[in-house]
Amino acid sequence: MSEESEFDTVITRRDTGSLKWERYRHRDVLPFWVADMDFKVAAPIRQALEERLQHPFYGYTVPPEDMADVVIAHLADEFHWQVKPEWIVWLPGVVPGLAVSCRAFCPDGDEIVVNPPIYHNFFDAHEPQRQTLVRVPLHRQDGRWTYDMPAMEAAFNDKTRLLMMCSPHNPTGTVFTLEELHRMAELCSRYGVIMVSDEIHADLVIDTQARHYPTAAACPAMADHIITLMSASKTWNIAGLNCSYAIISNPDLRRRFRAVSQSILPSVPPLAYCATRAAYLHGGPWRAELLNYLAGNYACVQAQLAGVKGLVVEPIQATFLAWIDARGLGLEDAKGFFEDHGVGLSAGEQFGQPHYLRLNFACPRSVLEEGLRRMKIAVATLESQGDAESGSAVSRR
Ligand SMILES: Cc1ncc(COP(=O)(O)O)c(C=O)c1O
Repeated sequence: MSEESEFDTVITRRDTGSLKWERYRHRDVLPFWVADMDFKVAAPIRQALEERLQHPFYGYTVPPEDMADVVIAHLADEFHWQVKPEWIVWLPGVVPGLAVSCRAFCPDGDEIVVNPPIYHNFFDAHEPQRQTLVRVPLHRQDGRWTYDMPAMEAAFNDKTRLLMMCSPHNPTGTVFTLEELHRMAELCSRYGVIMVSDEIHADLVIDTQARHYPTAAACPAMADHIITLMSASKTWNIAGLNCSYAIISNPDLRRRFRAVSQSILPSVPPLAYCATRAAYLHGGPWRAELLNYLAGNYACVQAQLAGVKGLVVEPIQATFLAWIDARGLGLEDAKGFFEDHGVGLSAGEQFGQPHYLRLNFACPRSVLEEGLRRMKIAVATLESQGDAESGSAVSRR
């Protein structure tokens, strides 16, 4: 029998105001939607928070003195990326960083390129009355989703100002190669386009053969035109605490970004700095176990859904989000169908890819297995209905 892991422990989140669980508060539906993990936060992070709470002041806060060094060490250790302290701009979230970028760098009439399927907030970060969002879909090549370079070449023009990238990619789980990043940087450089690279999933590569390269580190010639957005929030399950950061080496871009950010965003809360610092300083062993557990959960999704007619689990390299092609079910509303069978998934439509489903598998394996069991029963119901219908058609003839 395999050894019990701390990630196997089921802890109820009902009545804690959890966004993920409240959606189905009055229904027997297991939630596998929003990207938030059902694992308790690592002990060193909880301990740091408890210590900080002992001091009864929670006012406006500047980052701890060593905060920039802690981030810099993490980026150097993980990605061999050398970042200077002054390049870091603290933010209360990555999504606000996307919105700030649109406002800081895109005058009226500019075009912003995004590549669906993509994390849905990419569609809403700009100001529709000022900028035009241009959607250039990713395509599947050799079994993974990547940029469609001819389509990108065709879409870029003199008005293109910003490319909003997601790397590693949510929802397809792609970890982009150096070559893919270089091609994109070359195109952006040719058109004078600023790249905003959302790398919130950088620490969540589960494919041991894949490696994440920060876009700015991979493409040094383009680095002064890149805004990198990062956070410890996904990996260490502290998204509700609101600590993220932008890395901007170009002083002019940084000044413009900071000016907009300061005018519309709240500052980072004290507990948020505290948790992020503890995550980077002491959360390494927990993260290693997490990645291992997530890889096991992903294998479980693949194994349980293999051979289920109408569902294809696509290969992913990073994130804790399975990307499932459900076109074969022939359903208009696959999300609603599975909800009716007790499983709460995200609809592909949300990310710009109809008839797909996204399944968040960051939960104890027993919960995941129950969800997958329900999904199989649901599809079997569909098949038996189909049989009954074709049977009755035969009898009418
Ligand atoms: C690609 C991506 N960016 C940003 C976010 C959310 O970032 P934040 O909560 O820091 O605004 C998510 C959450 O799932 C995400 O997947």
